[in-house]
Formats: sequence, structure tokens, C-alpha cells
Amino acid sequence: MSEQVIAIDGPAGSGKSTVARAVAQRLGWSFLDTGAMYRALTWEALGRGLDVHDEDEMAALASSVVLTTLPRVTVNGRDVEDEIRSEEVNIAVSVVAANARVRSCMVERQRAMAAAQPVGTVVEGRDITTVVFPAATVKIFLTASLDERARRRGDEGEDSVARRDEVDSTRAASPLRQADDAFVLDTTGRNVEDVAQEIVQWLKSRSST
Ligand code: DC
Repeated sequence: MSEQVIAIDGPAGSGKSTVARAVAQRLGWSFLDTGAMYRALTWEALGRGLDVHDEDEMAALASSVVLTTLPRVTVNGRDVEDEIRSEEVNIAVSVVAANARVRSCMVERQRAMAAAQPVGTVVEGRDITTVVFPAATVKIFLTASLDERARRRGDEGEDSVARRDEVDSTRAASPLRQADDAFVLDTTGRNVEDVAQEIVQWLKSRSST
């Protein structure tokens, strides 16, 4: 059991998943992509024909589904790793993630998942530094230009990325925001290994003080 956490937040396409994965690999820690959890839940709701705006129905679904993110993203035993990146999910996921009861259920699961890891966990999302792990060992806010973020998101397009960021940053429940004590890292034009190395150095300097 370990409570060691590197928490990473930032908008869509800021490099969170790639960087978090690379940091976890360097350290031999686990990696938790919390966006994949909201996406898997959204995919399940759409597949069942539920109205994602129905807060009660979505809260009930959130507390009943079985979700895994590693080694693959699954919901109720079905592998949805590829399906959760679809356009339908991109559009609906911000609605699901704005539901406060869905969020509290996901936050509880995220804390339990991290607590069960043998060494430490690199966790990435939108509310990880502010709500899920406000006392994380290292807290990071990743940014990048909209142009570069849209390029990284490939088919999603600049408008869709910008719209999702707007919804995620202005919702009432745990909006995306920069924690006061987070390191801010602009990843525009930087490669993953370089950014991962910088984060590992921060962890080392924290551990030695
Ligand atoms: O990181 P991503 O694009 O896969 O995240 C998908 C959506 O989930 C994103 O629009 C915001 C939401 N999300 C969230 O609200 N809180 C998190 N901790 C992670 C993701």
C-alpha cells in the first residue's frame, strides 16, 4: 500500500497521459488516467441509450459499473480502450464529468486505486491536484498552446478541444483550475522524455528535503 502520488492536471491535449505514463515508467510506479474512467462511463451510458443529462440515472450507473484502466480500459468486463476516444464520447463526456455525484463516486474509486498500488501512482486528470490528491507529493499543471493541443488530439479538431476545455473549466463541480502550489509546465514544442525528466527531478528534490 502506498500514498505516494504525483498529481498532474491540465486541459485536453496538454500532454498529461503521455507524460504521466513516461514518468510512471521511469519510476516504476503505476499510472492512472482518470479521464479514461469518465470516458468509459460515458461510453456505457450511450451504449445503454441513457440520457447523459439525467443526473440520477448517471449517478446510479457510476456507482454500479465495474471499471478498470490498467492494463486496458474496461467497463463491466468489456474492453473499450479504442471506443472511448470516439466523437460521440468526446461530445458527451463533459456533461457526465459535470455531474457532482458521478464525480464523488469516481474520486472515491481513484483514491482507493492509488492507495492499493505497491510503490506510488502518477495520476492525471482535471481535479487531481485540487480535489482528489490535494496533498500529493508533487503537483503539476501542464499547459500547451491551443494549436499544438488540437494537433495532438488529431481528428478531434481545434473547436471541439476548445469547447471541451471551456465546459471543463467553467462547470460548478470541481472545475479544471491551476492549484496555487502546482508547478506549471508549458509542453509546447517540448518532447515527452524531457518533460518527464523534469518531473522526476522535482520528485527527487522533494524527497531529499
Ligand atoms: O483527459 P480526457 O480528455 O481523456 O478527459 C475526458 C473528459 O473527462 C474531459 O473532458 C474532462 C473530464 N475529466 C474530468 O472532469 N476530471 C478528471 N479527473 C479527468 C477527466
